Amino acid sequence: MSYKKGKEIYDGKAKKLFDVVGHPELLWQEFKDSLTAFNAQKRGSFEQKGALNREISALLYEELESKGVTTHRVMEIPPTAIVTKKLDMVKLEVVVRNILAGSTAKKFGIEEGKPLEAPLVEFYYKDDALADPFVSDDQALMLKTVRSKAELDELRSFGLKVNEVLKSTMERAGIDLVDFKIEVGRDADRRLYLADEISPDCCRLWDKVTGQKMDKDRFRRDLGGVEEAYREVCVRLKSTLKKGSV
Ligand code: ADP
Ligand code: TMP
Ligand code: ASP
Repeated sequence: MSYKKGKEIYDGKAKKLFDVVGHPELLWQEFKDSLTAFNAQKRGSFEQKGALNREISALLYEELESKGVTTHRVMEIPPTAIVTKKLDMVKLEVVVRNILAGSTAKKFGIEEGKPLEAPLVEFYYKDDALADPFVSDDQALMLKTVRSKAELDELRSFGLKVNEVLKSTMERAGIDLVDFKIEVGRDADRRLYLADEISPDCCRLWDKVTGQKMDKDRFRRDLGGVEEAYREVCVRLKSTLKKGSV
């Protein structure tokens, strides 16, 4: 099966979306080299970033699929594109934390690096104009991001399942999975799929031995070595998952 890229329908912060000719049920997603933070107030880029994130995402999606997580993937188009199902996206970002860091550490005045007794799941309302605010379960229902409390529980379980697989994969690659954000969507039968991407853009990854950050915090916090960190994550995952280029 081969697919043909159609017209551009969306130019986002990290990806461009295109139609797929003759397939209204699909999307062609092109990973860009751009890098943004703080709701795009800070912008940067590096060559190969799109290709690295596409490849890291592909490796992790393949592992997740093998462990029973359904994803939007239809076909990888290396180096920078992927054809996916076109989904009705849930207007929530699902964040799962294993170690306290980032906004939740700041919010409660707790030093970054505190391991949590159990993973913490949080929902954020996906709205750039509002800077993706945290929402309680009742607020998520009020905003009609889900139809019922049961759907929120489904999202919570989905996030925890993804965490279980990613945490153990990263562990094998010598990396602590501190936290991550996923996006999910539904098909016409309301089946839930993992969508968007899983990459160092949307995870916190700390080297198990040195504690070095290997994710977008290097860019957010001006730590340097952003490209090297993304490349190292890719190399380690390829070797852990025993793959060449995906
Ligand atoms: P942003 O929209 O925040 O700038 P991106 O540049 O990554 O982020 O753009 C990708 C967009 O595509 C996001 O809005 C994401 O929610 C959406 N998306 C990802 N996967 C799918 C999918 N399978 N179906 C529909 N939309 C998707
Ligand atoms: P936070 O600590 O800033 O809330 O971030 C939690 C996780 O979510 C972290 O791994 C980074 C990721 N994230 C995104 O992918 N997109 C975002 O817009 C934000 C704020 C965080
Ligand atoms: N995802 C947001 C942005 O790209 C915020 C962040 O990751 O810090 O601007």
